[in-house]
Amino acid sequence: MMKKKIIVANWKMNHDFYETTSFLRNILKIVFEKKIEHNKKIIIAPSYPFLHISNQIVQGTFINIASQNVCCMEHGAYTGEVSAIMLKSIGIRSVIVGHSERKKYFFEKESIFLKKIKVSIKHNIYVIFCVGETLDDRKKNKHFSVIKNQLYETVFNCTEKEISYLCIAYEPIWAIGTGKNATNEQIQIMHKFIRSLFFKKYGSYVANNIYILYGGSINHTNVKRILYEKDVDGGLIGNSSLKLDNFLKIINS
Ligand code: 13P
Repeated sequence: MMKKKIIVANWKMNHDFYETTSFLRNILKIVFEKKIEHNKKIIIAPSYPFLHISNQIVQGTFINIASQNVCCMEHGAYTGEVSAIMLKSIGIRSVIVGHSERKKYFFEKESIFLKKIKVSIKHNIYVIFCVGETLDDRKKNKHFSVIKNQLYETVFNCTEKEISYLCIAYEPIWAIGTGKNATNEQIQIMHKFIRSLFFKKYGSYVANNIYILYGGSINHTNVKRILYEKDVDGGLIGNSSLKLDNFLKIINS
């Protein structure tokens, strides 16, 4: 059976209360009124303060809400942090972990990501885990080993049961927010490689069923050709998910 493609909108630190709620209300209204057909799972990740209201707005619709982050600790004296238990208590079912911006600006490391993965899954929250190489890694032909290490230090410490809560997003750092996409060939080769690592570690069932998304300058003009690739199960989209028109074109592609 064909897997349903997943589109995840990572809004990053964009959209205030009004922008978030009106985007969600408008997209639901337009899709309903224009009877826009799509066959994808849609997940939108707004900022922490708007998760609760966002989840209420989309309740019972085709849209799911994800968190962009979670604390690696379960509870306690961690000023400014938000726990998996808190997310669960407002009905959040998925979270993005391991984004390269968390590494670059907040100095998070694979050891922290692993804790975030484990604590999320413990509370039945699905994890969209990001991996990706720098341009320098690619130029030095180290991209395969970089991705392999990122996986071995994190998700490959999970049991097979835990893996069923995971989805991987391959986001080459040089393609994030730059307008540069990886080519179809580069994307397919890397996705196939990631799937082969899951095969070696967990066998064919996990390898066939794990979702592997691509992220990095996806927009409405290139989404179709990217999602067309055999090992691409969906997209993780930043900039082009912020404007309603663009996002509608993407989900309708
Ligand atoms: P852009 O789509 O803006 O390149 O961002 C990709 C990304 O980082 C999604 O998490």
